[in-house]
Formats: sequence, C-alpha cells, structure tokens
Amino acid sequence: VSADVRELRELYADATKLYHHLLVNTAAGEQGLNYLHGRGLDDGTIDAFMLGFAPEGNVLLNFFTEQGRDYQLLRRSELFVERDDGSLVDRFSNRILFTIRDRSGHPIAYSGRKMSSDDDQPKYINSPESPLFNKSQELFNFDLARNGIRQAKEVILLEGYMDVIAAFQAGVTNTVASMGTSLTPEQVQILGRNAEKIFISYDADHAGQAATKRALDMIQKDGKMAAQVVHIPGTQDPDEFFRAEGADAFKSLLQKNVETPVAFGLRYLRDGRDLSNQQEQLSYISDAIKLIAGEREPVVRDRFLRQLADEFSISLPALNEQLRPLLLQQT
Ligand code: UTP
Ligand code: MN
Ligand code: MN
Ligand code: MN
Ligand code: MN
Repeated sequence: VSADVRELRELYADATKLYHHLLVNTAAGEQGLNYLHGRGLDDGTIDAFMLGFAPEGNVLLNFFTEQGRDYQLLRRSELFVERDDGSLVDRFSNRILFTIRDRSGHPIAYSGRKMSSDDDQPKYINSPESPLFNKSQELFNFDLARNGIRQAKEVILLEGYMDVIAAFQAGVTNTVASMGTSLTPEQVQILGRNAEKIFISYDADHAGQAATKRALDMIQKDGKMAAQVVHIPGTQDPDEFFRAEGADAFKSLLQKNVETPVAFGLRYLRDGRDLSNQQEQLSYISDAIKLIAGEREPVVRDRFLRQLADEFSISLPALNEQLRPLLLQQT
C-alpha cells in the first residue's frame, strides 16, 4: 500500500480508539453507552464492533493537533469538515459511531447515528469517500463474517449496522450489510467469490422491497449465487426481530419463510396494481410471463404458469406460447 494509505490507516486506528474510549470510559460518552445498552447491545459486542462516541465540539481535532499531526494529512482524512476559511472542524459531533472496517479489519470510515428522534437531523451521517473508503466496494462486517460465509457457503445480506450487530450478538455470524438500500455490482461480486447462496433480508418497507428487487436482478446478472428472499413477518427489521425472537427463530425463517426470486418478483409486480382493471391485468400477466421465463427449472416454470392460468382463467397453452420466444432469447 502507498505511504498515504498507511498514514491514513494509522490515523483512523487512533481515531477509533479515542472514540471507543470516549464511549465506554468517560462521562461524555455516557449517553451514547446508555443508548446502545438500551438497544440491547452488551459490552463485548460494543468492543467487537469498535463502536464509539463523538461528543460535541472538536474533540478529535484537538487530540490530533496536540499530537502535532500533519495538517495536510488531517485534511485528506475526511474525518473533518473544511470551512471556507480553510479551518477544520470535527465531522462527527454528538453521535454514536459505527466503525466501518475494510476486509482486513482496518477502520476506514464511520457512520454517526443521532441518539434522539425529536429533531430533523439525518438519522445517520456518513464518511464521504476517501483514499481508504471506496463506498461501492465495501460491505459492513465482511471482515468478521468472511469465515462464517465460507464455511456455510451462504451469506445473509441485511440493510443496516444494527441489523448485522444484533445478528452477530445472537450468534449468526455470516451477515453483512449493504449500508442502505443501494447494493452495487462490486459488492455482489465480492460476495459471489465467497458464497454459493445469498439470503436477502431487507426491511419490509417500500424502500426495502424495491431494493430487494434491484438486488435480485443484480445477483442474477452476476450469475454466481442462488438467491432467496427472507420474509420477516410483520414490520420488524432484522435487528428488532433478533431482539424479540432470537437467533433460532431467525434460522427457522431461513428454512421456512423464504421466497425464490421469481416468487418474490411476482408478488412485487402485483404490489399496488389494480388487477380488476382489464388493462392492468393484461400488463401484469405479460410482465409475469417475462419473470417466469427467467426461472431455470422447467418444472418450477410450469408451476408458476399454472397459478397464472388458474387465477386469470387463461389456457396453459396460451401462456406457454407467450413464454416460449422469451426462453429462446435467453440462450
Ligand atoms: P434504516 O433506516 O433501516 O436504519 O437504514 P436502521 O439500520 O434500521 O437503523 P436504526 O435501527 O434506526 O438505528 C438502513 C441503513 O441505511 C443506511 C445505514 O447504513 C442504515 O443502517 N442509512 C440510513 C444511511 O446511511 N443514512 C440514513 O440517513 C439512513
Ligand atoms: Mn474496549
Ligand atoms: Mn430501512
Ligand atoms: Mn432498518
Ligand atoms: Mn433498525
């Protein structure tokens, strides 16, 4: 690695230690620690994830300045925001910090969560890209999850930091987060080199479901992993589900409450459509046939076609006639 990267890594390692120390050992961090305990995290987990706390003010800047750190290095680090007059201020203030680590475990970025919900500040403030942090290439927790993923040949993809941390604390260690709902092809490639199967368990809200559809398309295009969508009953996200129901309940969802990409796609296609409307019904059927054409196994295709035939009183030969040219296109 370059000298620049080496220096930045060291800076982030020191920043992470300071933020963690402030969280677990100081009065300034007490509110943050209470918040995390209140969300069910124990001290071992808080340590394992190097969670931190950024107090109000320029604590990090003062710390590094007193050490006589190179100002240009501090500027490049993206740990600070540069004012118009060229002065730096701490980027993270009065927030819990989730430390984002690269695949070797080096801290490379932070995401700062606010502790209360009674203001209109963004819930999370994230590090921008830097020489250490290329956002589209990173998955939260890939370093710790890698062994578990390789052993199981399976990875569980979640949206958020708390989802992954709650899973880890419950003993489910092969989970990573895309850090939001926009999975990238690079992230899919990394996972595809380590797993044969991917379970997607994004949030049940519209953003999560739309992101699940995009992720499935991306995974299919990449072609390396089989995908399954995990359906959590109700509106809990994985973090809430792990806390309320535990790891065994989640593992049982992986067995019993999963959908194939085509089954998910069909359900997603229906969402918000008025199928009593003739026009919408026809466009649904035509889109559904396109989806079914993407299913490899003829037997499974047949089952979905029969469902369509039954539901809309269409003959199976007619559905097959419309499906056939789509199958030929793919080969
Ligand atoms: P969610 O809104 O689902 O948050 O965003 P969460 O993970 O459940 O967090 P809690 O439980 O409310 O604390 C999922 C992920 O999207 C990214 C974060 O990575 C978050 O974990 N995100 C979300 C942001 O980067 N910025 C935001 O403002 C919101
Ligand atoms: Mn510690
Ligand atoms: Mn969400
Ligand atoms: Mn969530
Ligand atoms: Mn959550």
